[in-house]
Amino acid sequence: MPKNALSLPPRSTPLKPRRRALVIGASSGIGAALARQLAREGYALALLARRQDMLETLCKEINAASGESRAVFYVHDVREYAAVPALLQRILADLGSLDLVVYNAGVNLPAAYDFENDRLMTEVNFIGALAWLDRVAALFQQLRSGQIVGISSVAGDRGRAGNPAYTASKAALTCYLEALRNRLSRYGVHVLTVKPGFVQTDMLKQAQRPFMVISPEQAAADICKALRRRKQFLYTPARWGLIMLIIRLIPSFLFRRLRFLA
Ligand SMILES: NC(=O)c1ccc[n+]([C@@H]2O[C@H](COP(=O)([O-])OP(=O)(O)OC[C@H]3O[C@@H](n4cnc5c(N)ncnc54)[C@H](OP(=O)(O)O)[C@@H]3O)[C@@H](O)[C@H]2O)c1
Repeated sequence: MPKNALSLPPRSTPLKPRRRALVIGASSGIGAALARQLAREGYALALLARRQDMLETLCKEINAASGESRAVFYVHDVREYAAVPALLQRILADLGSLDLVVYNAGVNLPAAYDFENDRLMTEVNFIGALAWLDRVAALFQQLRSGQIVGISSVAGDRGRAGNPAYTASKAALTCYLEALRNRLSRYGVHVLTVKPGFVQTDMLKQAQRPFMVISPEQAAADICKALRRRKQFLYTPARWGLIMLIIRLIPSFLFRRLRFLA
C-alpha cells in the first residue's frame, strides 16, 4: 500500500492553476530526471516506484529546490495490478486531479530462453502499463483532456536476437499506445510514445555495445519539449528516428544476418 511521509503538494485552484503529473517508475534514471524537470516547470507531482529510500530522497530534493511541497511519493510495485484502482483514487484525491501520466517503469534482464525473466519484463514493461493506463485513459476520456506518455524503446521497432522478450514487451507497449492515441485523440487527449536510444542509467549496464549515449536529463528535456508541442512520437536523441527508419526497412532475411544490429 502507498506510504507517504511528506505533506501533500498544493492543489490546483481557479486562482492558482497548477498542472498535476503522475510518474510511474520515478525512483531513478529517466523517471527521476523527468520528475525534476516537471517540477521545475511547475507541476505538482505524484511519484511511484518500489524503492522508498530513492523516492524519499528525490521528493526532498525537489521540494527543497522549489521551496514548497511539490512532490509526494507512493511505494508501489506495478505488478500489484489489483492495487491500482485504489491507489489512483488516492492520488486523484491528494492532487485534486491529473493532467499528465507517464508510464516509465521498465526492466531489461539479459539472456534469452529464461521464462521467469521474460515474464517479469512483460509484466513490468507492458502488463503494468495496461493496469495503469486503461484506468487513466478512461478518466481522461471522461474529462476530455489530459496527456499520456509511455516510455517505450527503439528496441521495440524490430525483434532483436539479443533479448527477444524485452523487444517484444516494448513493441507491445508501442502498439498499445498507438491504439490509445487512436481512441483518445477525438476527446482532446494527447498520447506521446517515447523511444529512447541509449541513456546513461542503471539499465545501460545490460547494453552490449552502447553508442550515442545521452544523459537522462537530456532525455527528460526532449520529453518535456515533445509534450509542449503535443508530438505523437519522440526518438531521443532525434537521430534515432532516421536510424530506425532505415533499420525498419531492412528485410527480415537480411536483418537476421546483420549480427551487429539484430
Ligand atoms: N536506459 C536506456 O538506455 C533505455 C533505452 C530505451 C528505453 N529505456 C526505458 O526507459 C525506462 C526507464 O529506464 P531507465 O533507463 O531510467 O532505468 P532505471 O534507472 O533502471 O529506471 C527504471 C525505473 O522503473 C522502475 N521499476 C522497475 N520495476 C518496477 C516495478 N516492478 N514496479 C514499479 N516500478 C518499477 C524503477 O523503480 P524501482 O526499482 O524503485 O521500483 C525505476 O524507477 C524503462 O521503461 C526502459 O525500458 C531505457
